[in-house]
Amino acid sequence: MTTIRAIIDTDPGIDDAVAILFALASPVFVILGITTVAGNIGITTTTRNAGRLLALAGRQDVPVFAGAAGPLACKGFDVAEIHGSDGLGGVAFPAPLAEPGGDAVAWLAARFMVEPAGTVDLLTLGPLTNLARLVTDHPAAARRIRRVIAMGGAVLDKGNIGPRSEFNMAADPEAADIVFGAGLPVILIPLDVTRKVRASQPYCDRLQASGKTGAVASAALIRAYFQNTTVSGPGSESRPLHDPCVMLLAEDPSLFTLEPMGLSVDLGPTRDAGALTPDATRPVIHVAMEVDGARALDLLAARLTA
Ligand code: RIB
Ligand code: CA
Repeated sequence: MTTIRAIIDTDPGIDDAVAILFALASPVFVILGITTVAGNIGITTTTRNAGRLLALAGRQDVPVFAGAAGPLACKGFDVAEIHGSDGLGGVAFPAPLAEPGGDAVAWLAARFMVEPAGTVDLLTLGPLTNLARLVTDHPAAARRIRRVIAMGGAVLDKGNIGPRSEFNMAADPEAADIVFGAGLPVILIPLDVTRKVRASQPYCDRLQASGKTGAVASAALIRAYFQNTTVSGPGSESRPLHDPCVMLLAEDPSLFTLEPMGLSVDLGPTRDAGALTPDATRPVIHVAMEVDGARALDLLAARLTA
């Protein structure tokens, strides 16, 4: 079995939480640490939530480091209406077992410099502010990243913030512009595919019936996604499981179809700030444009319930 050594950069967040619980449950991941960023909700809450998830999983071996409290340039905003005032849909979690460490970007730089080059993935589940700061302030460390697998953007699909802008990119367009222009080995997972990965109530029942800690918590988190959504009601599908797609692709790339493309980022003043446009003059990254949603959900459940 291959081993995926990875760092998770995240703004938990309900779907971030399911993604993190999946990675902690899967035997293929070795999680070196979690860095947090403001996004779905403020940095204090996203950092505390990372610690709460690790406490639930009994993983005090995984350190947490707090990152950016806001975007590089634009005015920040959150989506607490989706994730709840605690960022986890009101689902009960224990308190963190340890205080977060120092600055996330300084830790990322130090860690990537000591790890053999090309051996550690960076899995980003929120705005790209921390990674953009690493690229800008510590380029030698950034170049040692094996793969950046990032959830964000919309290519052919409509946005979820503006007509074409998606939250993670809209929350910090300047950071996205830096990351997509840096020539890093980026795999981007946009709304075009994450919207095809949604859970049903019977799926949540299956997770809950396993009695496994991460699966039971994930069922409660996803059900909160139902409760907080205006799109679907009881009996329908959940909001998209956006962030779990990052870990699912890391573990089984065959679930997704990737296309090479360069991307430019709208840095303008409109609601479409952060919108992505294919651009042949930009460094080529790889973008997931198709997913086998059923197989993806099966792998998610298999790891959580094992
Ligand atoms: O647009 C979806 C993304 O924004 C996900 O990462 C979700 O957690 C929010 O951060
Ligand atoms: Ca997220």
